[in-house]
Amino acid sequence: MDITEMLSCGNPDYLATLIDRTEKLRLDTLGNQVYMRGLIEFSNICRCDCFYCGLRKSHTSIRRYHLKRDQILHLAEMARSIGIYSLAMQSGEIASQAEVDFVAEVVRSVHEESNRDGSPDMGITLSIGELSYAQYQQLYEAGAHRYLLRVESSNPDLFRSIHPVSQSLERRLECLNALKEIGYQVGTGVMIGLPGQTWEHLAADLNFFVERDIDMLGMGPYIPHPRTPLARSTAGVLIDPYTTTLKMLALARLMMPDINMVVSTALQTIHPEGLKMGVKAGGNVVMPIFTPVDYRMDYSLYAGTQSKNLDALHQEIESAGYQLAFNTWGDPQHYYRRRNLPYSDHHHPDVRAG
Ligand code: 5AD
Repeated sequence: MDITEMLSCGNPDYLATLIDRTEKLRLDTLGNQVYMRGLIEFSNICRCDCFYCGLRKSHTSIRRYHLKRDQILHLAEMARSIGIYSLAMQSGEIASQAEVDFVAEVVRSVHEESNRDGSPDMGITLSIGELSYAQYQQLYEAGAHRYLLRVESSNPDLFRSIHPVSQSLERRLECLNALKEIGYQVGTGVMIGLPGQTWEHLAADLNFFVERDIDMLGMGPYIPHPRTPLARSTAGVLIDPYTTTLKMLALARLMMPDINMVVSTALQTIHPEGLKMGVKAGGNVVMPIFTPVDYRMDYSLYAGTQSKNLDALHQEIESAGYQLAFNTWGDPQHYYRRRNLPYSDHHHPDVRAG
């Protein structure tokens, strides 16, 4: 079977076999650890107008917020105090130099604060969109070392059909190149179940990730947001987003054994077993949410976001036979391999255990 056939095969036994195979490979190569990124959605202000996203700038009925420096530092400290040594800082896209300076300053301060008493440093992932080479470099020098920028689809026509003309796939690819050249651990990803998306598109996405030699992957089902144009699309949705996402995760894991792959919030939102199955299908990263409760409702990319707190994550992961990895950065092994460096997981054994 080729990848397209594996994706389109509707036989549930086939899905179960695929997940079993993936789970065996993963346990052999990566073990049963699941890394954490403390998620801080520090702003929902966005200059983009993506047809699928609840944060698009034309969506005027949400309250826009932007956390202050000290609020973010406080959240980082909360994460660190429970042994979560990696943060994911996300926001809508604001490319102004003032905003980049702000983020750079926060990143620098997170490092400074965590180093102050000789305790372990924090790993920092940014996911704040398309910036210039110089801005990516500035943030890297400030101490961000991972960057996530999804392409949403590697197919130019499908990309075009879900974005305004001012946004292009080429620009995303340029950004991914810049990030890699600067030295970031680079992640990308796609949405699954988009109107007009075919099995061939998804198979091509998997090959795209391999060709790009990415370090991290974030894929999740597309969930229509009622107040966005794409929710009214009449283009056919060919696939069951839940089982297709599980298949995409499993195939990605088989094709890229040493990358980090997140179990997306969207997957956890569309199915009660999304977390457990996402981990079994090869996901080795979860993102417990640290965004203050008051703002979570305003960060709604799609309808019904289900963000699990740490206790819930812990229980579900353990009952699936996996372990949350405290006190570690949890870098992707792939990054070290592609750069011919010895793997270091920045583990901090002497600090508080989970
Ligand atoms: N459904 C699922 N995922 C979405 N995202 C944005 N809107 C939606 C949606 N309606 C994802 C995109 C984006 C990330 C921030 O969230 O992949 O890159």
